[in-house]
Amino acid sequence: MLTSRIIGTGSCAPATVLTNHDLERMVDTTDQWVRTRTGIAERRVCGPGEDSATLAEGAALQALAAAGVDSIDLDMLLVATITPAVPFPATACLVQDALKARRAAAFDIGAGCSGFIYGLAVADSLIRSGSARTILLVGAESLSKFVNWKDRNTCVLFGDGAGAVVLQAQEGGPGIRSTHLYSDGAEWALLAAPGGGSRFPLSEQVLQEGLHLIHMQSGTEVFRLAVRAMEEACMAALKANRLEVSDVDLIIPHQANARIIQTLANRLAFPEAKIVLNLDRYGNTSAASIPLALDEAVRDGRVQPGMTLLLTAFGTGVTWASAVLTWQGNGVATGPLRGGAVRRDPREDKGATVAVEEKVKRIIVEQLGVQESQVKPEAKLADDLGLGADSLDAVGLVMALEEEFNLQILDTEAEQVQTVQDAIRYIKGRTHA
Ligand code: UT7
Repeated sequence: MLTSRIIGTGSCAPATVLTNHDLERMVDTTDQWVRTRTGIAERRVCGPGEDSATLAEGAALQALAAAGVDSIDLDMLLVATITPAVPFPATACLVQDALKARRAAAFDIGAGCSGFIYGLAVADSLIRSGSARTILLVGAESLSKFVNWKDRNTCVLFGDGAGAVVLQAQEGGPGIRSTHLYSDGAEWALLAAPGGGSRFPLSEQVLQEGLHLIHMQSGTEVFRLAVRAMEEACMAALKANRLEVSDVDLIIPHQANARIIQTLANRLAFPEAKIVLNLDRYGNTSAASIPLALDEAVRDGRVQPGMTLLLTAFGTGVTWASAVLTWQGNGVATGPLRGGAVRRDPREDKGATVAVEEKVKRIIVEQLGVQESQVKPEAKLADDLGLGADSLDAVGLVMALEEEFNLQILDTEAEQVQTVQDAIRYIKGRTHA
């Protein structure tokens, strides 16, 4: 049976670094705000002559060299991007020309920040079906060209870069073990560049209103959806491979916000130390972020043959996805797949005997990072326990309560909960405990 595996990785980022301090001079923001809310310290931005195709080419050349593959041997060249070099043709065709990959069919994949995993699914299917033997997959973005540099809500988040992998067919062997892809187009307007396409073609008005640039309706809502969606995709991936979360050696998530990733790690009960993070230096590079992080981890030795990697992403569309692969390095065969029951959350194992009070208090301790002794019934969540200064802490707390008690808590209800006792009463009321 044919399967696919990654035999080489590469990456490329523009030389120009834009720090949070640089942004302080452009919009009303601070280095501290951006670092604490997102985990980002700096990002790379394209200089003159750089765009998604040139970045893709740089990453591709590295990946081909690492794989020991000549571009003429590529059957297929895929570029995942939402910031194409030109509206058409596909950026993949520009890269195909630059690499002189004359035998390769080429097309782009537009699935936002999930684009790399979508591309992995396409490449894996083409290889498994025997349609292609060697495929180059690149995630490449030049988001700085689509950022509204006057909008502090979004301009601090994004950066430019590219990451690439070469996939090759093999007879058996684990390689790419699964991919899970999802979308919900009803949420398309949450994060979009609505102008400049065939719906609102470029016009004086589109330019004036900046409709061709990135618009985010609600960062908090994107945050909430992202955590839930990536958790769903990860759980599906674990279940399909009969893996427990402890069987995963590294998670390589889409790099949008360190706190999204921390919340996800918390919900999966996965140690943060085993998550590959580089968004402090690159920001959110959409489809490029996972292959950029993968290449970094391969080159610094964090990824070793035999390791089980879990990739997951969420982004515009909205789309979300996951993939599980066994890293084989240069063809080193690995042992049989590890089995085992899927465990959603080890906290469930403690059973229903734990009282509502204890569960609520434990969640407050975990989410707000306070001492257990501080969580007295009369303690005010905002003044005594430090909640409220940051809306994402509130979102995290509400989501954890929703998860634990299998509830949906409306924002208006959550606003009424001021003290620990309020929280306990509310949950008791909703669960009839
Ligand atoms: O691949 C998916 C792409 N997108 C994402 O992943 C975004 C996910 N969401 C997030 O990362 C977070 O929601 C943000 C980082 C975007 C925002 O963090 P937040 O903690 O949700 O902040 P907020 O939107 O609730 O805003 C809090 C305050 C607001 O001020 P007021 O209304 O409370 O006075 C904002 O105006 O922070 C203000 N604010 C800023 N302040 C300084 C928003 N952006 C900035 C900024 N600097 N850059």
